Amino acid sequence: MSESLKNPARYTITAALPYTNGPIHIGHLAGVYVPADIYSRYLRLIGKDVAFVCGSDEHGVAISMKAKKEGISPKEVIDKYHTIIKKSFEDFGITFDNYSRTSAEIHHETASEFFKTMYEQGDFIEETTEQLYDPEAHQFLADRFVIGTCPKCGNEEAYGDQCENCGSTLNATDLISPKSTISGAVPTVKETKHWFLPLDRHEAFLKEWILDGHKNDWKPNVYGQCKSWIDDGLKPRAVTRDLDWGIPVPVPGGEGKVLYVWFDAPIGYISSTKEWAAREGKDWEPYWKDENTKLVHFIGKDNIVFHCIIFPSILKAHGGYILPDNVPANEFLNLEGNKLSTSKNWAVWLHEYLIDFPNMQDVLRYTLTANAPESKDNDFTWKDFQARNNNELVAVFGNFINRVVVLSNKYYEGIIPVPNQFSEIDLETLAELKKYPEIISSSIERYRFREAGQELMNLARLGNKYLADEEPWKVIKQDEERVKTIMFVALQIASALAILSEPFLPFTSDKLKQILNNSSSNTASGANWNDVSSKEILIPSGHKIGQAELLFSKVEDETIQAQLDKLQATKKANEMANKEVTPQKDTITFEDFSKLDIRVGTIIEAEKMPKAKKLLVLKVDTGLDVRTIVSGIAESFTPEEVVGKKVTVLVNLAPRALRGVDSEGMILMTENADGKLVFVNPDTEGVSNGETIN
Ligand code: MF3
Ligand code: ZN
Repeated sequence: MSESLKNPARYTITAALPYTNGPIHIGHLAGVYVPADIYSRYLRLIGKDVAFVCGSDEHGVAISMKAKKEGISPKEVIDKYHTIIKKSFEDFGITFDNYSRTSAEIHHETASEFFKTMYEQGDFIEETTEQLYDPEAHQFLADRFVIGTCPKCGNEEAYGDQCENCGSTLNATDLISPKSTISGAVPTVKETKHWFLPLDRHEAFLKEWILDGHKNDWKPNVYGQCKSWIDDGLKPRAVTRDLDWGIPVPVPGGEGKVLYVWFDAPIGYISSTKEWAAREGKDWEPYWKDENTKLVHFIGKDNIVFHCIIFPSILKAHGGYILPDNVPANEFLNLEGNKLSTSKNWAVWLHEYLIDFPNMQDVLRYTLTANAPESKDNDFTWKDFQARNNNELVAVFGNFINRVVVLSNKYYEGIIPVPNQFSEIDLETLAELKKYPEIISSSIERYRFREAGQELMNLARLGNKYLADEEPWKVIKQDEERVKTIMFVALQIASALAILSEPFLPFTSDKLKQILNNSSSNTASGANWNDVSSKEILIPSGHKIGQAELLFSKVEDETIQAQLDKLQATKKANEMANKEVTPQKDTITFEDFSKLDIRVGTIIEAEKMPKAKKLLVLKVDTGLDVRTIVSGIAESFTPEEVVGKKVTVLVNLAPRALRGVDSEGMILMTENADGKLVFVNPDTEGVSNGETIN
């Protein structure tokens, strides 16, 4: 059994198929799609044969639930979000060779074929068991249709197939105090027949393949999760469901049942490859069946078991397919300290980002890479986004390029000068430059994208420092010949940046290539990734570059504040929605009610009660008299704020001494979402003090 493939003939790169139950946000981009895209673009740049495939995950309970919630059909849900998601990927420069969808016919065929073949080979166990059933919705409850307490970690919102908190895979019947998410009902149980994938049969193979074979090349978080599942003992898992949305079970007795979404979705990678190959006039089979193909799955950590244990068991059982060489799963990205959440709208949605930051895709790609949750959960903050943009992209990368281009135009009308004798610093700088393709490659090939992105920035730093040290703008006054050499060297660095930035900052790379005056996909001299180390000259003397254009622009504090305000508003809205309503009190009679004498009054004086944090001593004109009322509102109002306020007063409350002051009544208050007290004041315009409230 193998460690990583050394010289693959080709690469099949997959990125987790997103559920089409909502748009995608920065968490998706950071965890899966940006790293997968960097990897794919890089491999293409070094001349590899790559199939980078993805598509929409359109089955499963996630979709049915969304449809129920919006009161539309599942088909309408998937069409809506498939379109939005596909566009977001295009907008952010994610270069899938194919973006398919699991509702496509080719996928239904492929997934059905897998199931039928495995069924015929006896790879499933057929079993009638008791499953959770919603007696009100008349439906079996599996997956996201049921939540309950995770038996492993105690998370109270674990799903019927998985706990997102601890990553355990579960059966709905494992949940403690399960509850239907459709009706809220407590489920009963009912017998039903399903097909199970006996994972226990694959245990020996999984042990050898993962635990022995990939101990050193898989990320510790991925390897560790696999090991704990395998050590726990693998059990058969149902791969069919009693649902009406999904791929029909294609074998006798399967009527009215569908394939479990996690059975069909990963096969979507294969369907997507088939669709791509058919369109391109290629053969899809080597991409999935040739041992010399390197298969890499980019996913988030909640998908590890499905990609490392279940899907490989399916591929192995079916036979004829290769297994993943690596599954570089990422941890989660948080947003401003809280877990990203579609349902709580706690997210930066890609389509909204582009409205607020038009043409700034690379800034987000860069920030998310610099902060990628590669080995632990990480936090996205707008302050960090601003700092990365202003201090790195603008101040280093952009500044360097701008100086090079402006000075070249100013001194030489954009024509690259012929250098003179190189100084020691020039030679060192050029030698340093040549190391970068190897440095960045090595990080990318080990799936260390944050490190790779920082190395790219280090190359820009090299350029920036070179110019700052050599000061051509000063030297030009005494030694014009020396400046030719300086500018020549600086232009070589600019040219290298145009090439090496492509996987990370594709829009910037394109723009820079245009500025350096090259419309082809490579740089001015047609250089590619490896040429940066092997070619003596990347951009030659005599070549004319274009005019300067700003690559990045500063993000101001107000812009960041606006984003923070938007999140604050979301938080408020959520708090309002979640605020617990105090249960209703016991019923009273009308007589009880009419005993309350509630009137309109005005606060005419107010002062703090000495040594009492919460109390104000008020003088209130009740229309009957002016009386003293002690009120517990000092943490919400200063005395000055309340003088003159029209208020609602319960006037016939028995007087009570508070800290030695007699309080003769009570002012009616309520609380807003922040927990601040507010007055209950009726619309009192034209109403005089003493009016009763009935
Ligand atoms: N839709 C799943 C999710 O968002 C990922 C599916 S990956 C695939 O968690 F392998 F099944 F395609
Ligand atoms: Zn758990």
